[in-house]
Amino acid sequence: MAPEISTPVPVADRVSGFSYAIRNIVVEARKVEAAGRRVDYLNIGDPIPFGFTTPPHMVEAVARAMREGDNGYTPSPGILAARQAVADDFAARGLPTDPDRVLLTSGTSEGIELTLTALLNAGDDVLVPTPTYPLYTAVIAKLGAVASYYHTDPDRDWLPDLDHLATLVTPRTRALVVIDPNNPTGAVYPTEIRRALVAFAERHGLLLIADEVYGDLAYDGPVEPLGLLDPDAAVISYSSLSKAYLAPGWRAGWMAVGRTPRLDNLLTGLRKLADGRLCSPGPMQHAITAALSGDRSHQAAFRTALEERAEITTTRLNAIDGIRCVRPRGAFYAMPQVTLPPGRTDADYVLGLLRSTGVLTVFGSGFGTVPEDGCFRVVFLASPADLHRICDLVAQFTGEFLAGRTA
Ligand SMILES: Cc1ncc(COP(=O)(O)O)c(C=O)c1O
Repeated sequence: MAPEISTPVPVADRVSGFSYAIRNIVVEARKVEAAGRRVDYLNIGDPIPFGFTTPPHMVEAVARAMREGDNGYTPSPGILAARQAVADDFAARGLPTDPDRVLLTSGTSEGIELTLTALLNAGDDVLVPTPTYPLYTAVIAKLGAVASYYHTDPDRDWLPDLDHLATLVTPRTRALVVIDPNNPTGAVYPTEIRRALVAFAERHGLLLIADEVYGDLAYDGPVEPLGLLDPDAAVISYSSLSKAYLAPGWRAGWMAVGRTPRLDNLLTGLRKLADGRLCSPGPMQHAITAALSGDRSHQAAFRTALEERAEITTTRLNAIDGIRCVRPRGAFYAMPQVTLPPGRTDADYVLGLLRSTGVLTVFGSGFGTVPEDGCFRVVFLASPADLHRICDLVAQFTGEFLAGRTA
């Protein structure tokens, strides 16, 4: 029988497993705005709405590319000048890299998606930190694979629990995801932990997915590429212009595939998949060359601004009864934890905070923590004055929530 004209077009089952709380939660914020309340959007890690600006020489590089007619498709891996700039940047950090092993992508995100797609069969598993950046778990679920969470520990500055990690490997484990500096916790891993993670991945024959998008935003200065610790390890490094170069909307990213021949087949697979999506945005590829070979003085100023905001955020949140917050050492996120009354979840707290005060954060379970643990993620890019105002609101709400005076 033909379906009735009103029958909805069906949605694939895999969509239900694809969740990205950072943006999904905006629906709730819009309702609060529609009811007339101002919302402080502390959910998305984008410096631009908070007044940070893209370096002018990068803007000029894109404008010039457009003016000079570089508006066509590029080769799928990206233009050579930009791939060379990425390779030179790795070399300058001590890790000689072949531009033919660099692929330009639509942000770090596309590099992650291409890699997981090229790597995983349904039923394979991937070691992912908890809390994690949720794109990993969303894409892994979409591919019918399994995210196996290794703990990172708030009592040890959110460092990975290597003992727990060691219990998770199965014959189907294919990769280890390392995000350093970390979103959502702001952790920066010491060298001995980084070395242990690389050795662990090698011992188990795993691809190491090194998410280094915040590599230049550790407050003590740039973190060296993970691959530097063992240039023959099976490491792929990912980064972009989104964070440390203040151009997230340009979708200009790259991935650098380690030199080991063990990665050659995967690289061939990646190139094949990259052909299918044609290329990353062309004019923005020119900005990669400008960014990596030009003036980076904005980064020192940005790091200073971030450290100041991290300090305000953690000091103010730790002063609230019932909240504890590990001090971030890089990036622009903190992952505080509120001691919840029995029966309440992180989502109850976050949605209550939003509806009562207009402060939008994201519940920790959107990053893989247990709902009853009471974690939530705060983006602290707002000005110091705004952060103080926001922390006043959080303090007031938390007192009422923990006293059971909120819905
Ligand atoms: C850890 C991490 N990886 C990747 C991304 C995606 O960044 P991009 O804009 O380069 O796709 C983000 C964005 O917030 C992130 O926090």
